[in-house]
Amino acid sequence: MRNTIESLQNSPVIAVIRRPPQDKMLDIAEALLAGGVKHMEITMEKPESADLIQQVKEEFGDRALVGAGTVLDEPSAVRAIHTGADFIFSPNLNCDVVRAAKRYGVTSIPGVMTPTEVVSAYEAGADVVKIFPAATLGPGYLKELKGPLPHIPMIPTGGVNASNIQEFIDNGAVAVGVGGSLMDKQAIEEGNLEKLTQNAKTLFSGLR
Ligand code: 3PG
Repeated sequence: MRNTIESLQNSPVIAVIRRPPQDKMLDIAEALLAGGVKHMEITMEKPESADLIQQVKEEFGDRALVGAGTVLDEPSAVRAIHTGADFIFSPNLNCDVVRAAKRYGVTSIPGVMTPTEVVSAYEAGADVVKIFPAATLGPGYLKELKGPLPHIPMIPTGGVNASNIQEFIDNGAVAVGVGGSLMDKQAIEEGNLEKLTQNAKTLFSGLR
């Protein structure tokens, strides 16, 4: 657990890989790694999602932490954990999902918005909370939350890009989750995966 948080402190980005084409998964992961990404979340929205996590772990597990995202229920959490997921990320708080992660010693990152939800998630055993939807709430909202809750690590996610990443970090984020700014769907369809490497470099260039 500590390792995941330490790793995020050193490289504060989790790439959100949503519905990747199965046959391009390893190339997508390699392109992101080339751009400096060290944490990847593969969303659990397809029957093959857990297999993809396993493949990326096997191929790149020595260079990146690989977790499961959009984990909405306990069976999905357990499936992902059994394939080797390093962390369990969700858009919402489901205590069964948090408990499953804790049961197996995997980092738990449920999604929350309000102060009450942040504290409920932490009390339920979350190691970190995902603040969602981050850009809609704004970096200032994170700063306000961290005022009374400085001890709870937070990962704002949703609408984070090169222009606002530093402000989220300055306002107390341990890391950020980033989907759209990295994962150019058209480039992926066209097999232009260098675009993902460029996007990652652009994102990291937003960090001082
Ligand atoms: C997601 O669940 O897809 C994340 O919130 C990523 O959001 P983004 O695409 O706006 O970065």
